[in-house]
Amino acid sequence: METRTALVTGAAQGLGQEFAVALAGRGYRVAGLDLVPQRETADRIVDYVELVADVTDETQVGGALERMLEQFGTLHVLVNNAGVYPESAFEDTTPEEWRRVMRVNLEAPFLLTRAVLPYLKAAGWGRIVNIASAAVLTAPPTMVAYTASKAGLIGFTRALASALGPCGITVNAIAPSMVRTETAERTVGADGGFEHVRAQQAVPRTQEPSDLVSTLLYVVDEGSGFLTGQTLNVAGGSAYL
Ligand SMILES: NC(=O)c1ccc[n+]([C@@H]2O[C@H](COP(=O)([O-])OP(=O)(O)OC[C@H]3O[C@@H](n4cnc5c(N)ncnc54)[C@H](O)[C@@H]3O)[C@@H](O)[C@H]2O)c1
Repeated sequence: METRTALVTGAAQGLGQEFAVALAGRGYRVAGLDLVPQRETADRIVDYVELVADVTDETQVGGALERMLEQFGTLHVLVNNAGVYPESAFEDTTPEEWRRVMRVNLEAPFLLTRAVLPYLKAAGWGRIVNIASAAVLTAPPTMVAYTASKAGLIGFTRALASALGPCGITVNAIAPSMVRTETAERTVGADGGFEHVRAQQAVPRTQEPSDLVSTLLYVVDEGSGFLTGQTLNVAGGSAYL
């Protein structure tokens, strides 16, 4: 079988880096796309294709994909992972901030999917994985914009799965609990955030990026072609679908 290729957004650090390394470990050729250079990720992956672009900018995304296709010639897996999760009281959420969250977390997966679709269709096989959040179920009061954006991403996942099933492409979402990444430790996890979430979970420990790897690999597996439109809630039992 030809070598499968994968593109992971937000691959410079955190979950995106973990996903990129995991896919490379499974034999995928991996490209990562991020606002910033991805030195640490590149150091962990042989022949890593590093793309620097803003996922909300259609022109930049198009240029990055061209560079990727020069290397790969094809694409099979897209992981829409880049995301932002600012906290604020609802009354303090400005329209600008609301739009920024929607653009990065919801519009960008649309832009990326739209841009890669011709290649997945041409390959006749594809996997799209959207990184949502268990916040859609737990509904934290200081993350209204974020929760709405991830709920939108789950709706996007379902309807897109219906649209792309006939093309041999599955679309699924993974919804983590609070995960120990640098950004989470600096923001939502600070000031007792991890302890608060841990207390809501059935599994009494903090979720690590590695806790999500087996689910990603399951979703993209050759044998998972009948799994589509689903949201896999990998959240230690903090909320049940
Ligand atoms: N860490 C958590 O607790 C947690 C929980 C549930 C869901 N998630 C989701 O998982 C994903 C990754 O979270 P993380 O904690 O690893 O975040 P992170 O901040 O560590 O990494 C996100 C990456 O996305 C990149 N990025 C942000 N905006 C971008 C843009 N406009 N264009 C290109 N790249 C951009 C950043 O540069 C960064 O490298 C996000 O979608 C997040 O909502 C995280």
